[in-house]
Amino acid sequence: MKSIEKITVVGSGIMGAGIAASIFKYGFEVKLFDTDMEKLEKACSEIKQKARRKMDPEKIKISRTMEDAVKDADLIIEAIFEDLDVKCELFNKLGEIAPEETIFASNTSSLSISSMAKASGRPDRFVGLHFFNPTVIMRLVEIIIPQSLNKENLKKVGEFILNIKKVGVKCKESPGFVVNRILLPVINESFYMAEELIRNTIREELKLGQLNSESWKKILELINDIDSAILKEEILLMGPFDLVDLTGIDTIYHVAKVIYEGFNKSSRYTPCPLLKQYMDNKLLGRKVERGMYWYGNKSNDPDINPCLDEKHQPIKRIDNPGFKAIKFIAAVVNEAFRVIEEGIVEDFNDIELSMELGARWLKSPFLLAKETGLDLILKTLKNRYEESGNNPRYEPSKLFNALTPELEKFFV
Ligand SMILES: NC(=O)c1ccc[n+]([C@@H]2O[C@H](COP(=O)([O-])OP(=O)(O)OC[C@H]3O[C@@H](n4cnc5c(N)ncnc54)[C@H](O)[C@@H]3O)[C@@H](O)[C@H]2O)c1
Repeated sequence: MKSIEKITVVGSGIMGAGIAASIFKYGFEVKLFDTDMEKLEKACSEIKQKARRKMDPEKIKISRTMEDAVKDADLIIEAIFEDLDVKCELFNKLGEIAPEETIFASNTSSLSISSMAKASGRPDRFVGLHFFNPTVIMRLVEIIIPQSLNKENLKKVGEFILNIKKVGVKCKESPGFVVNRILLPVINESFYMAEELIRNTIREELKLGQLNSESWKKILELINDIDSAILKEEILLMGPFDLVDLTGIDTIYHVAKVIYEGFNKSSRYTPCPLLKQYMDNKLLGRKVERGMYWYGNKSNDPDINPCLDEKHQPIKRIDNPGFKAIKFIAAVVNEAFRVIEEGIVEDFNDIELSMELGARWLKSPFLLAKETGLDLILKTLKNRYEESGNNPRYEPSKLFNALTPELEKFFV
């Protein structure tokens, strides 16, 4: 018998509905609860309709009261608004009404798991389960382990994740967990690199709101050059600026700030002023038809709504980009080493799985390191560190800088 068989999902928005569908799909009993009854009913009927396998429709139900939703749950997964006070209040109530043995999980992208664990009154039975969107498709789940979690409960949660055919990567509670922790500094660095190139290219002061069309044309050429270089190396499915437009610049800026603040405003993670300028000028990406590139409409599908240039012609990628991808690779590999050095994950493979399955990278950080060569990457970082007057963004991680011969063998 499985130790987790009955699951309650609180919140039936994008993530809650996706999580419930992913669990229902494998024959578990799921109850959904939301304060918005209309959303709740819609989510449940859509899950039943879209289920590919022949599922017993009785296995997914909605509850009209929280008491009914949680009364016999083995595991409660919370996916409500991203607000710590609201989540703590919810967990405080759940702690009072849920059965003693029920394990609690939050799907938060950025908030403190320990604070919620404390509010729930059951810190030994509280874990972070960070699913990715679209949940039915994305296989990665970051299992965030607060210090207070009991090992037996961690084991039960790990087994449950396997039972719903997802891949769980265990990580210590830390800003951005694993995927966003690597992705965001790398995106941020892409903005810094673009800013550097733009400053060297256009003569006017770099204030996006005041640029003339000729300057915009040049900016577009430069960001396309960076995206083209990353695409040519087949590192990501799309260029970093394509990805930013798809995700939404406001979301990117928010997560960049979470990491910056999570590391006590360390200058290593200061969000790039250019990123903030796009945000302040409301150039938010595909959802407003204008971000780093232009778009014909608000569709989020790059195949039917391609990136356009300033004349609204489809962007042509550059065959021989001037931008050297090694700068990007150095940022990726260095941040990945930091995550290992800080003990956030157990081993190198956790990083590879996280970036392949959670961010859909074509080449994971340590595969890139292997292909590119550690010496070249370290040399690039050291040069950048020196040229920038010891900017901490380029400081090689201690682990990388002093790689032991045993570890080096891993990269041969
Ligand atoms: N959207 C993503 O790509 C993504 C990815 C990973 C994690 N997350 C995290 O998942 C959580 C949910 O995000 P989302 O995008 O699904 O949000 P959403 O706005 O689509 O859905 C939130 C739902 O929670 C309900 N709700 C709010 N307060 C409630 C309460 N007290 N009790 C019950 N229901 C309540 C709302 O009615 C709404 O249906 C957030 O913590 C977010 O950070 C989001």
